[in-house]
Amino acid sequence: MITVHGLLGAPSDALRTDAARAVLVVGGRRHLEALGVETARSVELGRLTPALDALAALPPDADAVVVASGDPLFYGVVRRIRRAGLAVRVVPAVGSLQAAFAAVAVPWDDALLVSAHGNDPSPALKACRHHPKVGVLTDPITGFPEIVAATAGLGRVYVLAERLGEAEERVRVLDETEAASILDVAQPHVVLVLAHHPDDLDVLGVQDPIAGGIRPWQKDPA
Ligand SMILES: C[S@@+](CC[C@H](N)C(=O)[O-])C[C@H]1O[C@@H](n2cnc3c(N)ncnc32)[C@H](O)[C@@H]1O
Repeated sequence: MITVHGLLGAPSDALRTDAARAVLVVGGRRHLEALGVETARSVELGRLTPALDALAALPPDADAVVVASGDPLFYGVVRRIRRAGLAVRVVPAVGSLQAAFAAVAVPWDDALLVSAHGNDPSPALKACRHHPKVGVLTDPITGFPEIVAATAGLGRVYVLAERLGEAEERVRVLDETEAASILDVAQPHVVLVLAHHPDDLDVLGVQDPIAGGIRPWQKDPA
């Protein structure tokens, strides 16, 4: 059985136990180091294809662990693993955007959650310009500076949340001027782009039966 464990911060006891027993552990370098898995028993991400090949080559009764950041079902690895024909059990962790909203006590059911990670960042950056509450997954190419540049002049407030759950975790709330002067941004990080400061009650927004809030660029919701 392949178990996909989410991880944000310290590994859970369940993850440590499963990783210690597994014949193969797949994960990013930081995650493998946090678990202390020997090189002979691990495949480091990067590229997912070699890991998928290694997982597919295992006997059906072998136990393997894949470590993914946050919730493995949210812009995570499970889609590609299942598309490769492999069955998985999923043990989620708190997602990075969920943790960032929690860090500033801002409800996120009316937020738009977008990804600029490993893809064309245009839709994510457009969302930041048009929606009052956006959570952005980033990558080393499209990160905090690019998000600040794309939203310049709109008076947005930014929550820059770096290395969530780790000893080096840092969460900064920045106005536009402050954001433009930030040079030291750690990986990984997520960014909340807000029309209101987290201390302003207007940031609480409205609870709607459909999550994701308004989409002002969709003139006709039908
Ligand atoms: C492929 S996405 C995976 C998202 C993940 N499934 C989740 O639920 O958070 C990777 C991106 O998630 C964000 N991320 C993951 N772990 C993080 C952490 N500990 N602190 C801040 N951001 C993180 C970063 O934007 C990173 O580039």
